[in-house]
Amino acid sequence: MNNFNYSNPTQVVFGKDQLEQLDTLVPAHARVLITYGGGSVKKFGTLERVKQALQSTTRTIFEFGGIEANPQLATLLQAVELARTEKIDYLLAVGGGSVMDGTKFIALATPAEQYQGKEAELMRHGFGAVPVDTAIPLGTVVTLPATGSEMNGFAVISDGHEKLPVFSPLTYPTFSILDPELTYSLPSRQVANGVADTFVHILEQYITYPVDGRLQDRIAEGILQTLIEVGSTTIAEPENYDARANLFWCSSLALSGIVSAGVPQDWTTHMIGHEMTALFGLDHARTLAIVQAPLWKHRKSQKQAKLAQFAERVWGVTEGSESEKADQAIEKTEAFFRSLGMTTTLAENNLGESDIPKVIASLEKHGMTALSETDDFTLADAEAVLKLAL
Ligand code: NZQ
Ligand code: ZN
Repeated sequence: MNNFNYSNPTQVVFGKDQLEQLDTLVPAHARVLITYGGGSVKKFGTLERVKQALQSTTRTIFEFGGIEANPQLATLLQAVELARTEKIDYLLAVGGGSVMDGTKFIALATPAEQYQGKEAELMRHGFGAVPVDTAIPLGTVVTLPATGSEMNGFAVISDGHEKLPVFSPLTYPTFSILDPELTYSLPSRQVANGVADTFVHILEQYITYPVDGRLQDRIAEGILQTLIEVGSTTIAEPENYDARANLFWCSSLALSGIVSAGVPQDWTTHMIGHEMTALFGLDHARTLAIVQAPLWKHRKSQKQAKLAQFAERVWGVTEGSESEKADQAIEKTEAFFRSLGMTTTLAENNLGESDIPKVIASLEKHGMTALSETDDFTLADAEAVLKLAL
């Protein structure tokens, strides 16, 4: 097992009717900015319930709506301006990954005087921590189980056709409320996205090479098995509380740092996928379902041992050589994505060979030229993978 340094400061408040706890979770004298997306939280009553729970004579409440899916810097800068003007000292994100991520950016950018007027620079630190020493504390009320943003310090921010990951240890939410009932109103497409995104989050921390991280492997396998068990039910039965509750806890834990502690990670599928979302507007999870299986086909020899373990322990494959088991794992994963209603080829998304150079150029522009758990996945490899995805 590799060395690791793990901490996760987010308080998780899980279950039915937990919104009423906001009154004790949000500081009593705060000037709170509630952030939300394109309107689902208004339409389904969540925003009203949040405001009611926060009502108190000592708090001042402001609102900022309109954070779009794949949050755009220009929108977030409007919120930064509001937060500066109104001297906001607590942020409450009510929504999915885009709202949570956008709010993390607001938390970092608002007090960062050295970045005033050049906030875009804050986006360019990737997995290295953004060099600021303070951020506005934030909490989240999660309405979409998918990204795990509610238990980590990552945000993915877009500026036009650029989409970049940003990390800061200062943007772990102080608390996250996960109420499965708040997800009942999700369109089935978004639920499928959540299952697939969570699945790939685990795969990127699990299908690498063995380092005898036995517990990490079994946590990963447990989450994958749970997703396979509840995936189709949670899509088909929107008000099945237990299915939604299981999906929710899987998605939050998947990117909480608990799975990656002490094991190698390969975020290649995500890095290629982010470029595809930025260029072609595909939903985040849908890009992952296109890239994952071709990536494994291309890197099979490097990943064969873990793919075979995945086949045996998660998919119950008992027959065949290690290589044949690895092939089975790839096939079954692709079939699982398709069972969720995801597409798995570029052609199904009206993309073809002529689109591949655009992705490669974006990867190059963003310095994504040595990806994978062994830092040797080049632009030529990315091109080969995308050709396998045609
Ligand atoms: O904007 P509103 O009107 O709220 O509608 C949203 C949006 O259209 C809707 N929605 C959310 N909750 C709902 C609901 N509709 C009905 N009922 C509800 N309860 O769903 C749509 C998609 O929302 P979005 O937040 O964009 O989806 P998701 O949670 O999948 O987040 C995707 C973003 O997260 C980033 C992605 O790149 C993408 O920008 N990621 C963030 C990560 C992180 N912070 O750790 C890791 C991930 O790998 C990912 O990259
Ligand atoms: Zn993801």
